[in-house]
Amino acid sequence: MSKILIKNIKKLFQVGEEIPEIIRGEAMKTIPFIENAYLALEDGVIVDYGNMENLEGISDWRNLEVIDATGKFVFPAFCDAHSHLVFAKSREEEFVDRINGLSYEEIALKGGGILNSAKKLAETNEEELYQGALKRLSKVMETGTGAIEIKSGYGLSVEAELKMLRVIKRLKENAPVEIKSTFLGAHAVPLEFKDNKKAYINLIIDEMLPQIADQHLADFIDVFCEKNYFTKEEMQQILDAGLKYGLQAKVHVNQFNVLGGVKAAVELNARSVDHLEYISDADIEALMNSTCIPTLLPSCSYFLGIPYADARKMIDSGLPVALASDYNPGSTPSGNLGFVWSLACVKLKMTPEEALNALTVNAAYAMGLSHSHGKIALGRKSPILITKEIPNLSYIPYAFGENHIERLILPKSHS
Ligand code: NIG
Ligand code: FE
Repeated sequence: MSKILIKNIKKLFQVGEEIPEIIRGEAMKTIPFIENAYLALEDGVIVDYGNMENLEGISDWRNLEVIDATGKFVFPAFCDAHSHLVFAKSREEEFVDRINGLSYEEIALKGGGILNSAKKLAETNEEELYQGALKRLSKVMETGTGAIEIKSGYGLSVEAELKMLRVIKRLKENAPVEIKSTFLGAHAVPLEFKDNKKAYINLIIDEMLPQIADQHLADFIDVFCEKNYFTKEEMQQILDAGLKYGLQAKVHVNQFNVLGGVKAAVELNARSVDHLEYISDADIEALMNSTCIPTLLPSCSYFLGIPYADARKMIDSGLPVALASDYNPGSTPSGNLGFVWSLACVKLKMTPEEALNALTVNAAYAMGLSHSHGKIALGRKSPILITKEIPNLSYIPYAFGENHIERLILPKSHS
């Protein structure tokens, strides 16, 4: 048995047996903590925690690693509930096009964007895709990501969507962090279906979904509900088909336009609605008292120069909010959740505590990992973060651009 004792922790955050699955509204301002704390793990399972004064003498030192966390903070690892981590190549040329004045939509309309990535992915073999994603994964773990959701959606053909999902499955089996897989066949309409979107939707429903379900390749289903992509009605049709195969929805909605996708997704029992750079009162109304969590992606707004989601309005209305990276080669070439934390504070006007709730408990919920991730409680196998020596919690989003994470402790055994 391997044992870890972390002692002299300046503050142990997000700890306790009473933390709910979703933290909403006003409650997001508070994070339970223990000052001058210790935390004990056995084979990755949290077996004890408390104030240093209550730490009993160690009777058995065998296989025990003692970590002195003097001046450091400890909290659950971040969960990244929205990413497109598997892709073939970066897209700096579009970045430069945008600097020169083109918009994301204009670039997409001239064959760039998602279709550009799909073309590159078709030319890349499974092994290369896997190795590329693995590299990105180890990089994001350095900045505190202890679980990640990964979408397909750069395949856009039966063969290539399955290829992406197999890569995600292989990552699931081999990576030391928990991974959730989302089928995003409806990410864009491939060129060959430009004049017959219906046929592409049929391909998703009749060809892709049955094989994906049969091979257990996805946990969730996603649709990019947006002008020039998929309408609300098309999204409903695809999500409905996904539900029949047991895939819950996590959807891209309201990135550029409000199309009524939020309410439609809530009615289809979606776990999360993601992006929400634009939001209407009707959307907020639809989300109230639902089990669907708004998931905000401020790095995407930063990189594309589009509006930031109105987190204040959502939280002040009593909604919960999760934060995620949206790591992808087009709109967000970064999976650094420390930077997301900073943007959440500076641009979304979330307090450091609200943002940490959004990156831990609420993010774990957004990816269906509430039972194991996002909080520190007895009997759980949650990944844990230890910070570097820093003055206080707010210093992390305040001193942006630096990595304040010193160590990620992972429970997953097959690493
Ligand atoms: O979440 N909005 C749709 N999908 C991605 C962007 C994909 C891309 O440009 O490659 C997003 O921002
Ligand atoms: Fe996305």
